[in-house]
Amino acid sequence: MGVNLFLYTLQNNIILALFVGQSIVKLKEVDSTNTYLRNLLSNSKPLLEGTVIMAEHQFAGRGQSSNVWKSDKGLNLTFSILLKPTFLPVNKQFQLNKVISLGINDYLTSIIGEPCKIKWPNDIYYENKKLGGVLIENISKGYQLKESIIGIGLNINQKDFGDGLERATSISEILHQDYELEKILAHLCWSIERRYLQLKANKWEVLDKDYSARLFRINEAHFFNINNTLINGIIKGVTKDGRLSLEINNELIELDLKEVKFIFD
Ligand code: BTN
Repeated sequence: MGVNLFLYTLQNNIILALFVGQSIVKLKEVDSTNTYLRNLLSNSKPLLEGTVIMAEHQFAGRGQSSNVWKSDKGLNLTFSILLKPTFLPVNKQFQLNKVISLGINDYLTSIIGEPCKIKWPNDIYYENKKLGGVLIENISKGYQLKESIIGIGLNINQKDFGDGLERATSISEILHQDYELEKILAHLCWSIERRYLQLKANKWEVLDKDYSARLFRINEAHFFNINNTLINGIIKGVTKDGRLSLEINNELIELDLKEVKFIFD
């Protein structure tokens, strides 16, 4: 009714966010929802902030570092959200990675009942396995961000990942039941919006603290592949511009995505 304490409404038992996911385009098949959204942005009249493009089958999904993102038809969530973070300077864009990975992490942790982790910069992990990934593509104007295409791939009902994806997992593999994709999507939209509103309200300390606390392998000694050399180090956090801060032989070094790879035993 009138009172809406948690900034959401319930319709058909689906929690709806204020603007993320209010407008949803559902596609049977597309190469990549990120590419589709980018084309829509350049070819059509202005789109509402929070517009979501989701695909039942994404046949040429793109991942970080020019990787491909594979997802079996109809089993998982593959979607892109349009945000307009015009309040954010380009050099602070890593805050968006924090917002998105925290929003996803909050919700997954709530349904799994155990903490999920964020593998820097924004992979979603449960134990040593990858549940999902995020590909953020920003469009800027001068020093400010203009639009941001937030691509999210989350494994929900897939049980068999095939060769080369031994470290992938899904919600149904963890919880032994299948889920309705659109319900999960609605919850995720709400959860992401909640974190995005924290950013808009300048709650940077909360976001920084929560992001660090959920970082996969933070404060643990592990081997890393750094510029093709195996080195033992300890993750201490992430710099303001989004580089990984690693302690090696009592010294802090800062690395970007091209320079460091995690090692799994
Ligand atoms: C990664 O872990 O490398 C990021 C994967 C991001 C995949 C999603 S699926 C929806 C959106 N469309 C794409 O082409 N990629 C992202």
